[in-house]
Amino acid sequence: MRPTWSNRLPTITATIITLPGDGIGPEIMAAARELLAAVGDFHYDEHMIGGASIDAHGTALTEEVLAACRASDAVLLAAVGGPKWDAAVAADPAAPRPEQGLLGLRKDLGLFANLRPVRPSPALLDASPLKRDRIEGTDLLVVRELTGGIYFGESGRDGDTAHDDCAYSVGEVERIARVAFRSARTKVTSVDKANVLETSRLWRETVTRVHAEEFPGVPLEHLLVDNAAMQLVSRPTGFDVIVTENLFGDILSDEAAMLTGSLGMLPSASIGGDGPGLFEPVHGSAPDIAGTGKANPLAMFGSVALMLRHGLGDGDAAAGVESAVDRALEEGLRTSDLGGEATTEDATRAVLANL
Ligand SMILES: NC(=O)c1ccc[n+]([C@@H]2O[C@H](COP(=O)([O-])OP(=O)(O)OC[C@H]3O[C@@H](n4cnc5c(N)ncnc54)[C@H](O)[C@@H]3O)[C@@H](O)[C@H]2O)c1
Repeated sequence: MRPTWSNRLPTITATIITLPGDGIGPEIMAAARELLAAVGDFHYDEHMIGGASIDAHGTALTEEVLAACRASDAVLLAAVGGPKWDAAVAADPAAPRPEQGLLGLRKDLGLFANLRPVRPSPALLDASPLKRDRIEGTDLLVVRELTGGIYFGESGRDGDTAHDDCAYSVGEVERIARVAFRSARTKVTSVDKANVLETSRLWRETVTRVHAEEFPGVPLEHLLVDNAAMQLVSRPTGFDVIVTENLFGDILSDEAAMLTGSLGMLPSASIGGDGPGLFEPVHGSAPDIAGTGKANPLAMFGSVALMLRHGLGDGDAAAGVESAVDRALEEGLRTSDLGGEATTEDATRAVLANL
């Protein structure tokens, strides 16, 4: 008899920090905990981050939470932010912002690589704004550099002028290029704006050298970011791994997200440091539906799968979760963002029934 999930899974033990955050965060984190309970025997330590932490401690991320995260095997986060804290910042620009918790965590854990797999579920091909024949077979990974570039450069105002500086070092490009080449199955597409930007010329030279010296067997192509944005919607099946810098990656990964039809479907992993990785859905805290029980937990479940694969080294358990999600969708599971009526609870039951 083939082993079933129920008789082979409760073997993984690890300490997971769960950070529910704000809005729908606690609802989808509760669903993730139910899923994890069916997958293995984990130790949990739950903490506040983002707006919840601002309300309790006056800061989006406390030293204690950082220390707990550093000492863990993996960090699972739901989402942060909401109108309440946006209003506080509008009234006082020096007020703490929920996203500072997320940025602080990524920086502290040295998470320089953000991985976003985009693989539209076969059952959802018609939910995409693109035609089925364009996206069928799409299975790509966006590898975004996360701790350098314009988001971390010096910025300021001088009278009626503002500036945001963008800098990259060779070392920063080398390490993200290695993550991309190691993740590739058929090729790596490196995306830059080397016809205009000096940081992009350094990026392209460095990726080319790392490729020649360390990964000559992996096909490599370079694309300008404007061309990449176009090809992502015109022929998404032509990509395997896309590696790019922070700002371009932020934009391209959201564009790629739409191939799946809903933000509620996309997971992400941030890895690269010596310590634990951070696993979280791509979507935000969805304040418009918080508390209604309508949140789609599938991006969170996908993040659990990425945590199992990239954070805890159990690719089989990860594949089990992913195929349970696919099967639930094939059976007709649709939350409101996918045009259905299933609640978070219904979606959780449907996936658990397929584990
Ligand atoms: N990583 C993060 O924590 C993160 C990312 C993006 C935005 N945010 C924050 O979230 C807040 C809301 O931002 P936003 O409205 O621009 O983006 P959002 O992703 O929260 O929501 C955009 C739209 O998608 C829907 N949606 C998102 N996730 C869903 C899910 N799981 N199930 C069903 N529907 C879902 C929402 O209801 C909303 O209509 C803001 O405070 C923003 O700063 C946080």
